[in-house]
Amino acid sequence: MVKIILHGVDGLSEHEVPEGSNLVVLAGVKKLPGLRYSCGMGRCTRCASRVIGGAEHLPPPNWKEERMLGEDKLAEGYRLLCQLTISHDLEIVQDRLPLKPAWKRLEQKV
Ligand code: FES
Repeated sequence: MVKIILHGVDGLSEHEVPEGSNLVVLAGVKKLPGLRYSCGMGRCTRCASRVIGGAEHLPPPNWKEERMLGEDKLAEGYRLLCQLTISHDLEIVQDRLPLKPAWKRLEQKV
């Protein structure tokens, strides 16, 4: 089991989850309350979270994360939880408002 510390929109919570879990899948079967998500496929960014502990154990971002989060948010430590399999303890923060996809943030700057 690995420990997940979630600073979610509903507050701080701690969870023990099986090694090899996908946190969005667990949230989908009500085993990780307080985690915001939607598509589960890297298309919506609703699961975007800033990893503040344990990021060194995660694989590099995949193409969906690169496309949806952009260099700026990846550099800030954001990841798409639906794209990750968790094998070590992790501490994550979900912003109060969902992160917009990278291209929508770019459109707003123009
Ligand atoms: S749940 Fe939609 S991108 Fe992760």
